Amino acid sequence: MRIDVITLFPEFIDSCAGIGVVGRAQERGLLEVKTCNPRDFATDNHRTVDSRPFGGGPGMLMTIGPLRDALQNVHAAAAQSAKVIYLSPQGTRLTQEKIVELAHQERLILLCGRYEGVDERVLENLVDEEISIGDYVLSGGELAAAVVIDAIGRLQDGALNDAQSAEQDSFSGGLLDCPHYTRPVSDDLGAVPEVLMSGDHAMIRRWRRKQALGRTWLRRPDLLARVELDAEARTLLEEFRHEHRAAKNQQGGVR
Ligand code: ADE
Repeated sequence: MRIDVITLFPEFIDSCAGIGVVGRAQERGLLEVKTCNPRDFATDNHRTVDSRPFGGGPGMLMTIGPLRDALQNVHAAAAQSAKVIYLSPQGTRLTQEKIVELAHQERLILLCGRYEGVDERVLENLVDEEISIGDYVLSGGELAAAVVIDAIGRLQDGALNDAQSAEQDSFSGGLLDCPHYTRPVSDDLGAVPEVLMSGDHAMIRRWRRKQALGRTWLRRPDLLARVELDAEARTLLEEFRHEHRAAKNQQGGVR
């Protein structure tokens, strides 16, 4: 897969995409992340890429010219057609489902805004989709682009060492992930749940599923409402709720 990023801060994207799982995916030839700086397409001596908004108001907007030329250049850089995604708080909220969809594309172009954003005509005519990574405002699209690249990069076949890890991700079955433990078995901070050391794989799978369901119920009831629970899941969730209530009652009794 190839991802082109149009950004005024290419070094930021290069450094994010050069480390960890995504860096390794690039080294293994599974993913290619390229940057293109609209400033290189400015036509004046100051390499201007922004201007004041018509109608007044604070801040500056990125102008059409350098963005259009940067996009044209990037489209022409590879044979396959590419969807253009603009990162902004006005976009559709990013989900793991969307990430899985994007990870299947051969090519993508991510457009990062700075200042107060970009001229609306760029969005109307040159952008296919607008995506937000959450209901908060960043000073530019680069961090959001890095989030998208990371989440897509780790899903490329062969990027993760353990083939199962992506399947076990939070959200992959519409639920949050279960808790995980490693050595030491006992510590001042607590003990590892016995079942995880039992060697009984059926019991371990059941415990993990129960924890995933329980956590989702406690922390993200909105997610739980959207998944269809089979008979086992309903039983596990009922058990979790019962144990949770009992633990809370016990805490209350101690106090
Ligand atoms: N740019 C600024 N804020 C953003 C957000 N929340 N998501 C995506 N891009 C952004």
